[in-house]
Amino acid sequence: MSQDWSPERWRTRPARQLPTYPDADALAEVERRLRHFPPLVFAGEARRLKGQLARVSRGEAFLLQGGDCAESFAEFHPDHIRDTFRVLLQMSVVLSFGAKCPVVKLGRMAGQFAKPRSEDTETRDGLTLPSYRGDNVNGIEFTPEARTPDPGRLVEAYHQSAATLNLLRAFAQGGYADLHEVHRWNLASVKNGLGTRYQQLADRLDEALAFMAALGLTGDNVPQVRETELFTSHEALHLPYEQALTRVDSLTEAWYDCSAHFLWIGDRTRQLDGAHVDFLSGVGNPVGLKCGPSLQADDLLRLIDALNPADEAGRLTLITRFGADRIGDHLPALLRAVQREGRKVVWVSDPMHGNTQKTASGIKTRDFTRVLTEVRSFFEIHEAEGTIAGGVHFEMTGQDVTECIGGAQAIDEEMLHDRYHTHCDPRLNATQALELAFLVAEHLADGLGRPGTQAVVRRSP
Ligand code: PEP
Ligand code: CO
Repeated sequence: MSQDWSPERWRTRPARQLPTYPDADALAEVERRLRHFPPLVFAGEARRLKGQLARVSRGEAFLLQGGDCAESFAEFHPDHIRDTFRVLLQMSVVLSFGAKCPVVKLGRMAGQFAKPRSEDTETRDGLTLPSYRGDNVNGIEFTPEARTPDPGRLVEAYHQSAATLNLLRAFAQGGYADLHEVHRWNLASVKNGLGTRYQQLADRLDEALAFMAALGLTGDNVPQVRETELFTSHEALHLPYEQALTRVDSLTEAWYDCSAHFLWIGDRTRQLDGAHVDFLSGVGNPVGLKCGPSLQADDLLRLIDALNPADEAGRLTLITRFGADRIGDHLPALLRAVQREGRKVVWVSDPMHGNTQKTASGIKTRDFTRVLTEVRSFFEIHEAEGTIAGGVHFEMTGQDVTECIGGAQAIDEEMLHDRYHTHCDPRLNATQALELAFLVAEHLADGLGRPGTQAVVRRSP
């Protein structure tokens, strides 16, 4: 961090994607209130996550990051939180037991509200209104009232994040995540043989647990059997909110953004001299950077210098999102540049944001086959370059939604109308998420993207 960094310095830099509030005083008043609210996470937890990500950067663990594209006030319900947590647990068991690899679990949860938009305004039938920018900014309904940014929504988003995090902590440590419960995590919404495949794995895990118990290793003396750890993350887009939650850690006297353990910079706000990069350059949390097709290798190296000048392992995660047909043209150059400079980063694949398409009837969707293809290419390219495929980043839900086409349920364009609930981008449903977890587990078990192992390269279908 540079000497003169401060949590408000971003205000002197160009800031893209921030809402324009009609009443600046009202926003300032909300920021004042937020500054007195308790931090949502403790700096020590963020440091713990950084330590675990350092292991990921060395190929000793795997990062699973997932959750909603955008959380919403309307979908705020304990069952939704539980179901997303549950599918993350299921995926993590598939990965850790299937591939014998420790999994770091990171939810896009408890604060993932603000959304970047391609257009500032939206026009329907001759009426032009501000674009929807997430429930912490404005409402999704197409009326002047709903679309006017309202700073009071930041307070509501804070409280929803606090309540969500409280429930996640209770689930993680209160017995719900006990490995003896793996069978019960299987969701009714998991369909088409995936549930059976998961149950078979759970049976094997039961046997392993029984064997461990016979050796005297139980939840009483091995806490990992009884509880788990789930960290939280969101895009650090709404800088007034992030600044208000940024506090000095009393143990280290360093600044931490205590709105979540991990914050990332979106593909639209990663300008080297921009406000978002400046803001995250100064906080002690582990941070992420989305890398899309327009990012050149030399710009990436400059961004790495800005965000991780001390080359600390676990500090910076590069989340690549090129699209299934473009990853081959873009990822190798970035990998080589970072490798050449010997920089310590975690490489993660977001196979969602480069694969968004519109159907003939105008619905935003993603083709599950393209999502699978980008993940597979991600592993194969890392294998070819001798670099580490560190993790995956998904937009998903535990609900049985029909937002992405394809997968074992063979969702087609017609079926998209059935249960299309997302507030922003189309998410994988529980079945699709689990199917992906099995694919990733296979790649990991084969040693793909794990330099030093003898990788088994299967032919892509
Ligand atoms: C997102 O993760 O929801 C997002 C907007 O991604 P990107 O910045 O990669 O487009
Ligand atoms: Co999204």
